[in-house]
Amino acid sequence: MPCAVVDLFCGIGGLTHGLIQSGLQVIAGLDIDDTCRYAYESNNDSLFIEADVGQYPSVNIKNLYPEGEVRALVGCAPCQPFSRYTQRYRKDGHKGDKWKLLYSFSDKVRDILPEIVSMENVPDLASEDVFYDFKRSLVEMSYNVSWSIVYCPDYGVPQKRRRLVLLASRLGSITLIEPQYTSETYLTVRDAIGELPAIEAGRSLETDPLHCAAYLSKINLERIRQSRPGGSWRDWDERLQLICHKKKSGNTYPSVYGRMNWDEPAPTITTQFFGYGNGRFGHPEQNRALSLREGAMLQSFPGNYAFLPSDAEVSKKALGIHIGNAVPVNLGNAIGLSIIRHVEEVEQNG
Ligand SMILES: C[S@@+](CC[C@H](N)C(=O)[O-])C[C@H]1O[C@@H](n2cnc3c(N)ncnc32)[C@H](O)[C@@H]1O
Repeated sequence: MPCAVVDLFCGIGGLTHGLIQSGLQVIAGLDIDDTCRYAYESNNDSLFIEADVGQYPSVNIKNLYPEGEVRALVGCAPCQPFSRYTQRYRKDGHKGDKWKLLYSFSDKVRDILPEIVSMENVPDLASEDVFYDFKRSLVEMSYNVSWSIVYCPDYGVPQKRRRLVLLASRLGSITLIEPQYTSETYLTVRDAIGELPAIEAGRSLETDPLHCAAYLSKINLERIRQSRPGGSWRDWDERLQLICHKKKSGNTYPSVYGRMNWDEPAPTITTQFFGYGNGRFGHPEQNRALSLREGAMLQSFPGNYAFLPSDAEVSKKALGIHIGNAVPVNLGNAIGLSIIRHVEEVEQNG
């Protein structure tokens, strides 16, 4: 039974790429941001449709699926409203209206009734009403639903990211495959980026403009020289420490201005991983923050994933958002393998 997938909120294709690696056919991805098109289409044999999921007619999505195939609708709606890292959420308690997009996802499921649904998001979503509304409406539509908070290193992602993964099927019970790695075999920062050529802060590699590291001021260069892997700003001489860190409240952020450890999975790659002051994003031994390429590889994108046309200017801010928001490719692969296993089980059971 062949299975065809459409990816809502597809971005630059982290989820799509993992699904394709697992052996699934991804027909198309929809995203409102056309700057994702190049990366999405260059690395995946899938169509990019620039569209607002809330406005795009369900019938058009329905018509994308080849006749007679099992249809899967997958998606990772924007996570910012639920993310711990969203300052806006923290500061004014206002979650914006992006959460509505999960209801749009639900509407698309209701209109299309695909055999399989997969939804991925940040773990904090599990404490939001919108998540339980999403799940309840699936059950009402006769889907079998399972969900869990996944520790990404268990699935070959060299990063201590946790994500919520939901799977649902109208064909029978569906669950995520068992973890493929253990704490003894987790992929590490060294496994992911240890082979990349050295670069200096503020420089990029001629043969790969994505392997570019942010400029560091003189004082930040002094600071990173004094930082040790897994450590923090507390390792620095007192004169280098920031006043805000020394205040009581600053003590709650020990990992900012830290270096990563070679022999552990990386910390969660946020949308600002290219900034030394934004987390433990210092390179384990070079005096600089992570490059865009390194952030992408820690998200388990292949080292040759093309993000921009060769003549395009690299914007760390714009690409950082796309890379940091992506579903790690290897998690996408695990979701794909789970869908394939489920379809095979259904086939075997007649
Ligand atoms: C969490 S990211 C998706 C990551 C993607 N699945 C991946 O693995 O690379 C969310 C995406 O939703 C897109 N988006 C935001 N609002 C949207 C809307 N109304 N319709 C379609 N896409 C939207 C954003 O442009 C962003 O690319």
